[in-house]
Amino acid sequence: MSLNISVVGGTGPQGRGLAYRFALSGHAVTIGSRDATRAQEKADEINVKLGASSVSGATNADAVQASDIVLLAVPWDGHADLVLGLSEQLAGKLVISCVNPLGFDQDGPFGLVLEESAAQETQRLVPTARVVGAFHHVAALSLWKTPDPLSHDDVLVCGDDADAKDVVQDLAASVTGKRGIDAGALRLARQLEPLTAVLISMNKRYKTRSGVAVTGVEQG
Ligand SMILES: NC(=O)c1ccc[n+]([C@@H]2O[C@H](COP(=O)([O-])OP(=O)(O)OC[C@H]3O[C@@H](n4cnc5c(N)ncnc54)[C@H](OP(=O)(O)O)[C@@H]3O)[C@@H](O)[C@H]2O)c1
Repeated sequence: MSLNISVVGGTGPQGRGLAYRFALSGHAVTIGSRDATRAQEKADEINVKLGASSVSGATNADAVQASDIVLLAVPWDGHADLVLGLSEQLAGKLVISCVNPLGFDQDGPFGLVLEESAAQETQRLVPTARVVGAFHHVAALSLWKTPDPLSHDDVLVCGDDADAKDVVQDLAASVTGKRGIDAGALRLARQLEPLTAVLISMNKRYKTRSGVAVTGVEQG
């Protein structure tokens, strides 16, 4: 089934990479930005790589308004203001958050210690949205570099709405070629989001793009 997906912050590397993968799988994608021209330029770049014209660009608000599913791919800085500013358009929608609240200092990356995760913050600010956390651990460059499925990676999916989580688990196949793993309730985003700091640290140490793979889970 073809989905209608908007990517808020789709001009950044993570949004661009996921938009590319979603469009490759046949979904209609709108890149969102604070600047419509910047969004259209990014959409054009993705369309060139796709050899198609299935990606369009718009302001974040227009992109969200026109879509059934929204991916938030923005930095943690300014996250609450951005979500609040889009709360009218996000109401009632399936909202995927891949936002990782991270800090960096002389010792490298670290997960910020917060009372709630980014995904939970979105859920609190837009109570009618069906928020799902996913795609926190897939590296932007890997998403963009080749069209091949990232078959060694798993996408961990958390959320409190079973139907919404099911849709996102299916959508994960556009990245890895297999269904995402149900990782539990939305509150577990507090554990999933900062794990990315560990991956970034390993990337620096081993000069690679690490991901997450789970053993012992058979998808029925
Ligand atoms: N990069 C990765 O490999 C990776 C992997 C997994 C998860 N993530 C997570 O995905 C999210 C996006 O990552 P990214 O590297 O693509 O981020 P980014 O390049 O820093 O930002 C993405 C886009 O967000 C918009 N933006 C920036 N500051 C904003 C603000 N204060 N308010 C509203 N919009 C703002 C910008 O778009 P406009 O200026 O066009 O509006 C920007 O192009 C982050 O939370 C990150 O932790 C990233």
